[in-house]
Amino acid sequence: MIDDCKIVKIPVIEDVRGNIAVVEESNDDIPFDIKRTYYLYNVKDNVNRGSHAHKALRQFIIAINGSFDVNIDDGYNKQKYKLDNPNEGLYMCPMIWRELTNFSSNSICLVVASEVYDEDDYIRDYDLFLKLLEIN
Ligand code: TYD
Repeated sequence: MIDDCKIVKIPVIEDVRGNIAVVEESNDDIPFDIKRTYYLYNVKDNVNRGSHAHKALRQFIIAINGSFDVNIDDGYNKQKYKLDNPNEGLYMCPMIWRELTNFSSNSICLVVASEVYDEDDYIRDYDLFLKLLEIN
């Protein structure tokens, strides 16, 4: 369900030297054990990322530098989130089609994930995505 995806605030420790933002399992708003972290950087102009869904993977997506849009779709409803703040992230539940677009220059997309990489968890065909949701 698209409503299960939500913006979650990241706790920040601020002092005169700068900030530390902490993503850890004890943040009750991140409802999974963290098994993998990866990041997209050096994203070329005018390219999109994503174009897939995951069967079981849960993710937490943060714009730790710059900005980009996360366009999500649960087969019934679509929503766009603009991420541009390192103090918050978007929680993504399973079975959500996503397109990441509109990357600013030098943006960095940090993804915290509930599982290690598994290509079998990907759904890369939109019609198959709808079929698995029993929509068509
Ligand atoms: P993909 O997840 O499709 O990229 P994006 O959603 O950002 O557009 O991954 C691109 C390629 O990188 C694909 O061949 C799988 C590989 N990959 C890994 O090997 N390990 C990983 O942890 C990730 C995220 C991708």
